[in-house]
Amino acid sequence: MTKEFKVKPVGVGLVGCGNFACITHLPNLHQSSLADLRWVCDLDEDRRSKAAAYSRAKGTGRVKDLWDDPAVEAVVIAVRDDQQALLCAEALKAGKKVYLEKPGGGSSEDIDGLLAQEKACGSKVWMGFQKRFSPAYQEAKRLLDQVGGARNLFLRMTDDAWRWAIGYPPGALMRVDVCHFFDLARWFTGAEIASVYAIRSRPDDDSLLLQMTNGVPVSLIFSGHGTMDMPKERMEAINERGGVTVEDYVEVCAFGYPDEAFRSTFPGIIRKDLPVEAADWLKGQGAQGLRKLRRKAWQARQKVSNLAPGESLLEEDARWAKIIPNFLRDQGWRSSLEAFLASVRKPSEDFPAAGLQDAKCAAEAASAARESQESGEIQYLKTVSPAEPFAPLPS
Ligand SMILES: NC(=O)c1ccc[n+]([C@@H]2O[C@H](COP(=O)([O-])OP(=O)(O)OC[C@H]3O[C@@H](n4cnc5c(N)ncnc54)[C@H](O)[C@@H]3O)[C@@H](O)[C@H]2O)c1
Repeated sequence: MTKEFKVKPVGVGLVGCGNFACITHLPNLHQSSLADLRWVCDLDEDRRSKAAAYSRAKGTGRVKDLWDDPAVEAVVIAVRDDQQALLCAEALKAGKKVYLEKPGGGSSEDIDGLLAQEKACGSKVWMGFQKRFSPAYQEAKRLLDQVGGARNLFLRMTDDAWRWAIGYPPGALMRVDVCHFFDLARWFTGAEIASVYAIRSRPDDDSLLLQMTNGVPVSLIFSGHGTMDMPKERMEAINERGGVTVEDYVEVCAFGYPDEAFRSTFPGIIRKDLPVEAADWLKGQGAQGLRKLRRKAWQARQKVSNLAPGESLLEEDARWAKIIPNFLRDQGWRSSLEAFLASVRKPSEDFPAAGLQDAKCAAEAASAARESQESGEIQYLKTVSPAEPFAPLPS
């Protein structure tokens, strides 16, 4: 979308140069012709220095430097949930446009506060529910919308979460990560979440059954106890014609669509530092290519964990061990961020972006799921009308 953008790049500040931002937002902002990255901010000196050296933006530990700089028109806030509401409110008050990472705050009340602030400032916060922008999910939605949307939806996310979720309490993933799924359930079905029933075998191994206000059932399986060699995400939707499946953002299959390709593949994110084989597998081999890449990266990590004292790793294994396959799937990070930057210049244009209200819906669904786990009962969301079972969908 973006290379045709002819207007002045947007002056941007990045707040939070942690694990996620350094792999995604920082290179995306640095490489995008839409962004003029002016500041990188992190409380941690080492992190901000590395981010500044990479991007040639100014580094600071004080967000006030960004708020006070009139050249900063927009900020990307990529700190953890407990700091998000405070920093987002400050940025809005300073007159900045905000791209806020999910989940949008530490609680539903945090998001209420931001909604009030957003209204007072007349500005729209853009939420990092960027999976809506992934090419594979966009294609799946196009196919589903041809025949009135999904009648039955299944989403699975199996993550090796304890690699990155250090510092989060057990069970936190429902709020900080399953929020993506609550958002996708609403986006794919075009309806609100009416009720949630949750069961779990152990913290962060959850199964949820949602019913949407248009009657569509949505099954979510979420586990933080997977491995890196297991495909992380799968979507399956059944509709009036047949169905659509999406494997790990790299492959979409359309069942019962005579005039559409049966299988479409989507390239992953091909970074310059990848081994040649990895880049080839990501280019166009779909699920099979990504599986090969996952396996090889996982095996290299196994070798690292099993190294005997004094033993060193072969250079090739060391290179593979650095790869995190989950970040090589195009989940829409760059296109969402670039659409945000475009929206700063063209606020009247319509983008399929999520906002704070969507974050609020996800936070309420997460709370309902936790209540259901505790009570063992279905929880009905208070702010939406009950489901209409088997509401007629257009043919
Ligand atoms: N959208 C996605 O697909 C996606 C994927 C992964 C993570 N995330 C989100 O990104 C956010 C960050 O996750 P992470 O894994 O990178 O966390 P992290 O802990 O690695 O990084 C957070 C960084 O923020 C810095 N920080 C905290 N308070 C600050 C402040 N007041 N001013 C400046 N810097 C501050 C910390 O020093 C740290 O470096 C989380 O909200 C997470 O949910 C989104």
